[in-house]
Amino acid sequence: MTDHTVSDEQMRTAGEILGREDVNDLEAILSVVNEDWDEEVHSVRSHYDTIFTWDYEKGQRPKLDKLYEKAKKTQWNGQTDLPWDIDVDQEKLVVANALQNGGLGGGLDVSGTPFAKWGEKEWIELGVESQNWTLSQFMHGEQGALVCTAKIVESVPWIDAKYYAATQVMDEARHVEVFSKYLDDKLSGHYPINAHLRMLLDDIIADERWDMTYLGMQIMVEGLALAAFGYMHQMTTEPLLKQLLRYVMSDEARHVAFGVLSLQEYYSQLTAAEIRERQEFAFEAAVRMRDRFLQQEVWVKMGVDPKAVAPLLVDLEDQKIFQIMLFSKIVPNCKKLGLLDAADGWLRDRFTEIGVIAFEDWADTGEEYDSLQAVPAGQEAAAS
Ligand SMILES: [Fe+2]
Ligand SMILES: [Fe+2]
Repeated sequence: MTDHTVSDEQMRTAGEILGREDVNDLEAILSVVNEDWDEEVHSVRSHYDTIFTWDYEKGQRPKLDKLYEKAKKTQWNGQTDLPWDIDVDQEKLVVANALQNGGLGGGLDVSGTPFAKWGEKEWIELGVESQNWTLSQFMHGEQGALVCTAKIVESVPWIDAKYYAATQVMDEARHVEVFSKYLDDKLSGHYPINAHLRMLLDDIIADERWDMTYLGMQIMVEGLALAAFGYMHQMTTEPLLKQLLRYVMSDEARHVAFGVLSLQEYYSQLTAAEIRERQEFAFEAAVRMRDRFLQQEVWVKMGVDPKAVAPLLVDLEDQKIFQIMLFSKIVPNCKKLGLLDAADGWLRDRFTEIGVIAFEDWADTGEEYDSLQAVPAGQEAAAS
């Protein structure tokens, strides 16, 4: 295996990691675009060791073993356990969601902005496109999870982790399936993968070190997804989507716990320089994920220049709250892994700069996943 020890000189600054000096440089963020909307397959080259283990003793890692046993019992069927017969009127849904959450336009002061000429029709269209975009990105992210977890099955050296990861592969296939079906049957259009999200997934899958797959996917991407699904679950008035998200979240909580429990053990044996590399990777992932939420592709589709609206959006109070809330799982999980305070608190400083450090003492998912398993597979659907 390659030696990845890094010296002090190799440690990168935040600017070098991101390719821009100011983490909030909107122009630089918006200049990253997916130019190829017609791409059919996307390949990423990755060299890594596929690990066989001859140590088959089950339960050597009791927490992973418990997760595995739990996962086997909480499988659900995306085709039959969800109420797909519910009709979704997307425009009415946009209005209903808006009424519950501050009205169309979200209380934005539109004078002198590209929205000044907008009426109800345009705001509804924006809501519809935003839904299509959001669910499309969820679906692409789920495929990222499917691929990453299959890679973990191959590359992780522990039998309990291989067993658990195999159940997660099944979970992620189901998640891709249900988001794809929801988009096809209930919404009105797909979006290609956002360039920031693709860049992040490419980085995660290209890295040859098995623990980086976990850090990128289970801790960062799935940690954010868990928070984002929770937010949408709370905001939407659409019962099918609500239930779908509830099911997916109960799986995701287990997935994030899998990351926390596996990395806790592995990180305890890494050098300070190796931990610093993990801090950099976590920071880069955090910013890439935040950048995608400007949903620039939606603005282009609506005929609005993203550069003209992005500054308005980042100042909107509920956008700010939403963007910060996305980190409510990631920050405590990074703390639990010792990533916040290693290297003189390098990651703590970065998370402070992007305004999300306040979550550090929230429940970490290694502890709380049990409480998110409230829905026994099939029962909620059967009861409704
Ligand atoms: Fe998933
Ligand atoms: Fe997942």
